[in-house]
Amino acid sequence: MRNRGDIEAAIERVGGAPVVIKLLEGTQGIGVILAPDNKVAAAVIETLQSKEHNVLLQHFVAESRGRDIRAVVVGDRVVAAMRRSAQGDEFRSNVHRGGRTEAVQLEPEFERTAVQSAQIMGLRVAGVDMLESDDGPLVMEVNSSPGLEGIETATALDIAGAIIDYIDNQVAFPELDVRQRLTVSTGYGVAELHIHPGADLVGSTIATSGLRERDIVVLSLNRGTTVIPNPRDHRVLEPDDRLLCFGKLEAMRDLIPARKRRRPRVKPLPEDPLHDESDAAS
Ligand SMILES: Nc1ncnc2c1ncn2[C@@H]1O[C@H](COP(=O)(O)OP(=O)(O)OP(=O)(O)O)[C@@H](O)[C@H]1O
Ligand SMILES: [Mg+2]
Repeated sequence: MRNRGDIEAAIERVGGAPVVIKLLEGTQGIGVILAPDNKVAAAVIETLQSKEHNVLLQHFVAESRGRDIRAVVVGDRVVAAMRRSAQGDEFRSNVHRGGRTEAVQLEPEFERTAVQSAQIMGLRVAGVDMLESDDGPLVMEVNSSPGLEGIETATALDIAGAIIDYIDNQVAFPELDVRQRLTVSTGYGVAELHIHPGADLVGSTIATSGLRERDIVVLSLNRGTTVIPNPRDHRVLEPDDRLLCFGKLEAMRDLIPARKRRRPRVKPLPEDPLHDESDAAS
């Protein structure tokens, strides 16, 4: 957002006022502003940017009514969750802004979203903040070092203990870097195959897909937001499925439709880099 036009376009992109403007470096609710109309929003953004502040612009999720959810993820599950609710006419639920906390039992959709958010960020322990929108959970933030005191008090759960148990389990049964371990034998590796809607594989089962014959094993199947680990042979492939496979890299590469070749904009590499002249000179 560099000029007035950019700012107005950005406001329109999130659906117009009311919008939420956030200072990137804000915390405890400070620097989170609810702008009631487009003019005020544009003026606030312009002012902050003129002072070299980076801002984030969001659609105001009115139906969340001053509430948000904090879920603490440990490993692949949510071990505790609380709802923070703003008091009075405040829309920010931060405890530092007077928000009250209560333990909640999360809907499965919220649990899944929290766990997936942590996994996408590569975190085994995370605090995931979500808004309860009409379209389901909206992730606001994924925190890599969530404070435990507030949520332990609100839920009366021993979250620190859950984290220690998790680490203890990891020692007995450590997660290893599958890709690294499986890429040891030359020519074999892990890759994700996307089933294009028009592909021949759509409608066939894993058994009849011919993958196994090409020395490709399906480790897991991602369908939308669900993951099916170790899918069975009779599982039918659907458009846009993503298959995490282990197998012959060449065979897997053949399954990916050829992309339009881009003309390289770099100096061509020497045919035989080892006998390059500059190399010989040194
Ligand atoms: N887009 C939004 N729509 C409705 N309410 C929002 C929105 N964004 C934030 N809020 C409310 O404002 C509160 C503060 O926002 P946010 O968590 O983004 O900032 P912060 O708490 O200051 O920063 P941080 O969480 O990084 O410390 C949220 O807990 C939520 O209650
Ligand atoms: Mg927050």
